[in-house]
Amino acid sequence: MQDDIRDGLSGRELIAGGGITYDDFIILPGHIDFHHQEVELGVQVTRRIRLNLPFVSSPMDTVTEHKMAIGLACLGGIGVIHYNNSVDAQAEEVRKVKRFENGFITDPVVLGPDAQLADLDRIKERYGFSGIPITEDGTQRGRLIGIVTNRDIEFEPDRTRRLREVMTADLVTGRAGLTLKEANELLRRSKKGKLPIVDEQGRLVSLVSRRDLLKRRNFPETVKDPKQRLRVGAAVSTRDEDRERVTALVEAGVDLVVIDSAQGDSIYELRMLEWIKRSAPHIDVVAGNVVTRAQSLRLLDAGADALRIGMGPGSICTTQGTMAVGRAQATAVYQTASVARARGVPVIADGGISQIGHIAKALALGASAVMMGYMFAGTEESPGDYFYEGGVRLKRYRGMASLEAMAVGGDKRYQTRADDRKVKVAQGVAGSVLDKGPLNDYVPYLVQGLRQSLQDMGVKSVTALHAGLEDGSLRFEMRSLAAQIEGGVHGLHSYKDSGIGMRSG
Ligand code: IMP
Repeated sequence: MQDDIRDGLSGRELIAGGGITYDDFIILPGHIDFHHQEVELGVQVTRRIRLNLPFVSSPMDTVTEHKMAIGLACLGGIGVIHYNNSVDAQAEEVRKVKRFENGFITDPVVLGPDAQLADLDRIKERYGFSGIPITEDGTQRGRLIGIVTNRDIEFEPDRTRRLREVMTADLVTGRAGLTLKEANELLRRSKKGKLPIVDEQGRLVSLVSRRDLLKRRNFPETVKDPKQRLRVGAAVSTRDEDRERVTALVEAGVDLVVIDSAQGDSIYELRMLEWIKRSAPHIDVVAGNVVTRAQSLRLLDAGADALRIGMGPGSICTTQGTMAVGRAQATAVYQTASVARARGVPVIADGGISQIGHIAKALALGASAVMMGYMFAGTEESPGDYFYEGGVRLKRYRGMASLEAMAVGGDKRYQTRADDRKVKVAQGVAGSVLDKGPLNDYVPYLVQGLRQSLQDMGVKSVTALHAGLEDGSLRFEMRSLAAQIEGGVHGLHSYKDSGIGMRSG
């Protein structure tokens, strides 16, 4: 482009003025010669792992367990399982993701033959389904000996009867390895509601439900490992004791490990990073959090496969106020990404994203992906139950350094030694967020918005966006306070925000 018609600022000029955040600037429009559906959102989230969408969910106990990780991987992103739990519990969450096969229920609720009808009633009340496989020892991987369906028990007045007396032992089963299409066909022919899948020894492997099949969707963007299993991440602390956690996660099949520390430039983090790279070189390690060029360089030198950027921008975060340390997020993303890009290492912009435009801005400043807590909290797949307050449907969302989360282990991110834990200084709050519905509706909404945003910039992919940042063709401008007010809704007596559970403005 000729210099005399070039408007606005390059990324470097934008950031030169000092610490700015997403709302402080705007991106100037480019030329559109393509449809927004053509915009390609695939990115490298780490050196070796590619996503079909630049979305990562935060390792927080109100955001990511297996349901979130499964939902996001099916749609093209990745979830990072939190570690506010025991080593076994976290590894089991990873295994649940790795076992998942679309259409097959790989962790079905089962009972043993000596359970009573009343136990079935409780399951039905809690989960809303019937059709429970009965295994010899009552475990999920036990030998299948029967199934109890609604029809078997509906008119039975004695709820203390044992299941072995009422179950159907004459079973139609499928063999492990059969395709969903074959399972479907078996279900159709047998006219049953549930098809248990067993291995050669007759042990239960999974369950296919006719009702689920009818509402099944195809997920063309699913992010899978070479064995065709969903990809998943998990977080660990910098403490030496968490080496055991890493080992368990690797055994469970984790694809990437996030070393979770609010200030990632420490000897503790470097030691953990180097240890993981030595003992499990096939695992990609995301190191962080960092916000400066010097911090980034140290982690890159130690072998980080991606950097996680952010200190203080999180919606539940009080770090900057309490610690007086941190950085405005737009500046942090630009500075760290420019150092990491030179080494071919992606950066993940973590925290402070409360609208689609913030995602676009993080990518425009050089991030390859965004990590989000707030945006995914309150979806159906986030841990926790919905509740009502003043007629509004909500879910809990809390910082891992809120007193509430630290009480059950969240302080590992903020204090590097176990004996530091006697006095707790909170760096986060606990609160609630609006119901955002299921990921299957919510993520396509984010994707469509993001595609249209890149289209307005005149770029067809995240790669093209980064090229524009690099060669200065992507143009930015600072927004005065008045410009920010002008850019938000103003002057109306009242209005209804149509974003799904998002911050307005
Ligand atoms: P959000 O997407 O703006 O809600 O920010 C989520 C991010 O905040 C997480 O990925 C963490 O990096 C960070 N975070 C989580 N818990 C806390 C906390 O208690 N204090 C400060 N930062 C936190």
